[in-house]
Parts: sequence; structure tokens; C-alpha cells
Amino acid sequence: MREKWKSSFGFVMASAGAAIGLGNLWRFPYLVGNDGGGAFLILYLIFIVLIGFSVTIAEAGLGRYAASNIVGSFRKIHPGLAFAGGLGILSAYLLFSYYSVIGGWIIKYAVTYLTGRSLENPEAYFADFTSQVFQPIFFQVIFILLTGFIVYKGIAKGIEKYSKILLPVLFVLLIVTAVRGITLPNAMEGIRFFLEPDFSKLTAKTFVDAMGQVFFSLSLGLGAVITYGSYLDKKENIIKASVLVPTIDTIMAVICGFAILPPLFSFGLGASQGPSLMFVSLPLVFSKMFMGNLFGMIFFLLVFFAAVTSSISMLEIITAYFTETFHVSRKKATLILCTGVILLGIPCSLSFGVLSDFHLFGLTVFDLFDKLISNILLPVGAILLCIAVGHIWGVKNAVREVTNQGTLSFRLWRIWGFLIRYIVPAVIFVVFLAGMGILRV
Ligand code: TRP
Repeated sequence: MREKWKSSFGFVMASAGAAIGLGNLWRFPYLVGNDGGGAFLILYLIFIVLIGFSVTIAEAGLGRYAASNIVGSFRKIHPGLAFAGGLGILSAYLLFSYYSVIGGWIIKYAVTYLTGRSLENPEAYFADFTSQVFQPIFFQVIFILLTGFIVYKGIAKGIEKYSKILLPVLFVLLIVTAVRGITLPNAMEGIRFFLEPDFSKLTAKTFVDAMGQVFFSLSLGLGAVITYGSYLDKKENIIKASVLVPTIDTIMAVICGFAILPPLFSFGLGASQGPSLMFVSLPLVFSKMFMGNLFGMIFFLLVFFAAVTSSISMLEIITAYFTETFHVSRKKATLILCTGVILLGIPCSLSFGVLSDFHLFGLTVFDLFDKLISNILLPVGAILLCIAVGHIWGVKNAVREVTNQGTLSFRLWRIWGFLIRYIVPAVIFVVFLAGMGILRV
């Protein structure tokens, strides 16, 4: 018997846990900072409405219909589509490998603040720590093994249980951080930067980044939602859950913006530092702020909880496939897979130190994985999903599944079908071409 969530509330908590992660806390603020503040935010919200909800419904519906891992799910629609599932497996493996590098850093920072040390010179601290060989890998391995432990515990007793505990704690910690953020002196400048759009800053890159971020933040395009959907009971309301999860994630992203951007402006730092924003600029703020160490500790604990509930979804994608295809136990599967992730994760980590001069396509291993996943693999995965669900399985069949054989109402089903069949793939394709520099806008 395949495992199931205990309730649809459990599914929503686990899926929201998967969605809310480093995407919200680490990636979103620095993209807002780099890509023009409010203008990026508006574009992001448009893509959430246009793409986010409809793809979430499609993924969850397909997963529950097939009640299988992602390869099995695509194969159930058409045997020739199995490769789309395979692509998802590969993407999840790459994603977890590089996500765990940041996960390890978070643990290191949380431990530093927990032990009461303050970072006087965050820039030097960050550069020194990330360029080492052993320490970052050590913390990365801890992050991978913690994730492995929860996944090994299973769906209801592992993923659902821990998400139900960690998500509310995370929410409270985030609210505390956000209230602190917007009550700092001169916080208004950061709030204005976040909310006031300056459309002159919009470029092709803004569009690519905003769309990539929608996929990344909602965990779409590589089968996380298909996998989580596959553990849903036939009685549950998929449409309601699929509207709830992206909504919660987007609200959390906006609160993250309020937690992180105002402090940066309040201390005159601005927000255009890129990926090191969370590890250099924010600690600098904490070092200058009243009770900064306490807030630093709360903050990195919060980020850690968010990161773990996300990484378990990546590992679950491959674990589900592995256990159901090769008939190995969950324990063995998670052990083998975590070892594989550690092996691929090591070069990612080293790309900040000894491998920093090693470039593929002009990027370090870490940057290559990040770009490859968000800007190529996730959009391609989402297009394949739209074709599979919208054109091969068919809108009628999909609607029958998500409405529990017509017993639930889904008034917008025609619009949903049109979005999935034509609009979403077309928008993704155009943005994708612009991102590759093939189409100039
Ligand atoms: N959404 C998570 C975040 O914001 C990352 C994530 C988890 C993810 N599972 C995924 C991204 C699957 C893409 C696909 O950090």
C-alpha cells in the first residue's frame, strides 16, 4: 500500500513547507534588489497569477490521478512521456546538491549566533568561511543527513509531521523579524524601494528572473507537487489546496521582503549585493542593531527551518522513484541517494574556494547549477507538463480528476484549460528565448 497524507491540511502544510524556503528568504530579496524593486515585485505577482496557480493544479491533479512517482505519473498519461519524469529526477538531484550548500551555510550561521558570537566583519567572515574546504562541506553534509532522516521517516510520520511543527514556528519567527524590520529608523526607504515600481528598470533579464523565481519559489516544473499530490486521498479538494499553497507562499515572500529590505536601507546598505546579501549585508545590519545577535539567531533559525522543509521535497521526488522502481526500502534508498547528493554537492561547495577559477560556460559549478535549474530545467519541465496534461491527457480528463469526478465545482475550468494548453507554454517559451538571448526585447 502506498502511503497517504493524514489530511488535506497535512498536504497543504507539507506543500507550503516545500514552497517556502531559500527561494523566499535568500533568492527573492536579492532578485528584488538587483532587478528594480517594485517593478520586479509586480512582474512576479503577474506570473504567479498567470502561471503559478494553473501549473500547481495541473501537477497536483496529475500526481493524484497516477498515484505514482513522477516517472510513473508521466508514463501513465503516455509511455513516451517517461523521459519528462526522468528529466525531473535529474533536476531534483542537481537542485538538492546545490541547495544543500546554502543549507550548510545557514546551519553554520545559526550555530555562530546561537553560541553568542557576533560577526564584526561579516564580509571577511563570509569570504573566509565559504572558501575553506572542510568546514562548509561538513555543515552541508549535516544538512543533507537531516533532510535524509525526515524523508526516511516517510510521508505521514516524517514529512507531514515535521512540516506541521516547523511551518508555524517559521511563521512566528518571520513575523517577529518583519515587525523589527519595518520599525527600524528610516525603514520607509526600503519599503518604498520594495513597493514603488520604477518601470524604466524593466529588461529582458527582469522577466526571466521573475518567471524563474515563480517556478523556484512554488516548487514547480520538476515534479515536487506531482509527488506530493500522489499521496493525496481521492476525497480531498485539490483545487482548494492548489489555490491555498501558492497564496501562502506569495504572502510569505512579501513578508520576507519586509523583513529583509528595510533593515538594509535603514543602515544605508542598499540591496544590490546579489546572492551574498543574506550572509554579508544582513549580518552587518545585525551587528549594528540593538539586540542584533538575538535577531540574527532568530533569523538564521527561521531560514534553517524553511530550507529543510523545502529540501525534503527534493529528496522525496527521487526517493519515491527509487523505492517504487528498484523495490528497495526507504532506508536504503535515502542512504544511497544522500551519498549521491553529497558527492555532487562537494564540487558545488568547492566552487566558492579551490574551484572558484574552474568555469563551465563561463560560470562556476554552483552558478551553472542555479542558472541551469531556474532558467532552463524548470521552465522546460513546466512546458512538458502543460503539453502532457493539456494536450495528451486532455483538459476534460484532468478536470474530472481535480473535481473528484464532477462532484466539486470548478467554475474557472475553461480558463484553466486555456491557460494550460496555450498561454502558459507560450509565455514560458517567449521568456525562455529572451533568457537565452535568442529573442531580443
Ligand atoms: N520552493 C523552494 C524554495 O523556495 C525550493 C524548492 C523545493 C523547489 N522543491 C522544489 C524548487 C522543486 C523547484 C522545484 O526554496
